[in-house]
Amino acid sequence: MRELLSALEARLDSPTAKGLAQAVSRAIRDEVLAPGDQLPPIRRVAEELMVSPTTVSSAWQLLARSGAIRSDGRRGTTVAPDRLGGARYTTALRHQPGSRLDLSTGVPDPRLLPDLRLPPGQVGGEVAPSSYLDDPVLPELRDALRANWPCVVDDLLVVDGAMDALDLITRTLFRPGDRVLVENPGFPPLLDLLEDRGVDVSPVGVDDSGPVLDDVAAGLSRKPVAIVVQPRGQNPTGVSITPTRARRLASLLAPTSVLVIEDDSAGDIASSSDLSLGEWLPDRVLHIRSFSKSYGPDLRLAAVSGPASVLAPIRHARALGQGWTSRLLQRALVALLADPGSQAQVRHARGEYARRRALVADRLAEHGILVPGTDGLNIWVPVRDESAAVLRLASQGIAVAPGGPFVVDGAAGGPHIRVTTGLVADAQVDVADAIAEAAGASAWSAQHR
Ligand SMILES: Cc1ncc(COP(=O)(O)O)c(C=O)c1O
Repeated sequence: MRELLSALEARLDSPTAKGLAQAVSRAIRDEVLAPGDQLPPIRRVAEELMVSPTTVSSAWQLLARSGAIRSDGRRGTTVAPDRLGGARYTTALRHQPGSRLDLSTGVPDPRLLPDLRLPPGQVGGEVAPSSYLDDPVLPELRDALRANWPCVVDDLLVVDGAMDALDLITRTLFRPGDRVLVENPGFPPLLDLLEDRGVDVSPVGVDDSGPVLDDVAAGLSRKPVAIVVQPRGQNPTGVSITPTRARRLASLLAPTSVLVIEDDSAGDIASSSDLSLGEWLPDRVLHIRSFSKSYGPDLRLAAVSGPASVLAPIRHARALGQGWTSRLLQRALVALLADPGSQAQVRHARGEYARRRALVADRLAEHGILVPGTDGLNIWVPVRDESAAVLRLASQGIAVAPGGPFVVDGAAGGPHIRVTTGLVADAQVDVADAIAEAAGASAWSAQHR
């Protein structure tokens, strides 16, 4: 402890909170302090460095806010773990080269995306170069979105995809040590982002109607700051929240101050009705809609609605980063939303994804394998042994994602694989037979095929 205090003293330029925070940061960079190391008690630091306990406590707050240290009641204040990030996402998407059918990706079928070769005039005609000071959201896009949004829109941001929205929200609205309720199983990159930020992730099960209310109630007793849900075609289960479940969820959350983040990544390809808890909790819901599945991932567009006061810090963080989402892309989306041909293509895609999902799910049911949900691009298939199932299918040239990265803890109903049915064409429906067989595979049988 003495040595550490001398190391901090040697790095202290000024006896202020900021000076002390910088001294600790330098000690971490110089590897005098390692992830997990405990910081000395505030009083001891104050005495040794001849500063007030208030100064030390303010320095610790600055460091905690930046994610460099975290307070964990029992262990005291410790240096935060190195940020690795992306571990789940990378595992979920580990590519298996040479697959004849890659159903591991969760991406839309390129053949079902609307034609992006719009007549040039439709993408804004004379495109005047916009200024840094222009409204970051194209007014025509704001109007088009407002007219077709599941809740009243106080403020709206356009961002580079739902991932960008989740990243901005995690960075600006959550602090290390905050607790957030998340669907289990859920979206691996979201779990990565939250864990990376030092957020304590609390799992909530998902049944056929949406998040399990008893789990939410139990989670609320642990004082979370937010809950993240997917309203439609939940990835990976395909469950859409029913209107009744949404209303009951809203009443459960009403007496709290918990922020609700809705990640509607399926957007316009979802068959279930559009809904938002914003109908009941307008001052606490951030509703994200992605246009990746409906209009193409490469448009990189999503919109987030919410109360202006909640979106303000996100707007600010963005102003210090990339500033805004290209208005050229925003114009393209305005044109696609107004173009009857593109809208017909999106409607066709929606029907086609529902049909493909049902085709595979029904065939699996004939084999006695029941999958939850009814919507979206994926199914969540229970298997006997996750790696064995992935391996067995890979040996037949079919790639699927292992379930592990989607699961917060070991409690999401045993081993699973996620299969992107949105990419299964009619002629390939026998893929369901292969999946059924793989579902029953054990580690031994997978190795001996
Ligand atoms: C639940 C969920 N959220 C967010 C995303 C990312 O969407 P975007 O392409 O808009 O960043 C996905 C993509 O698959 C998703 O499944």
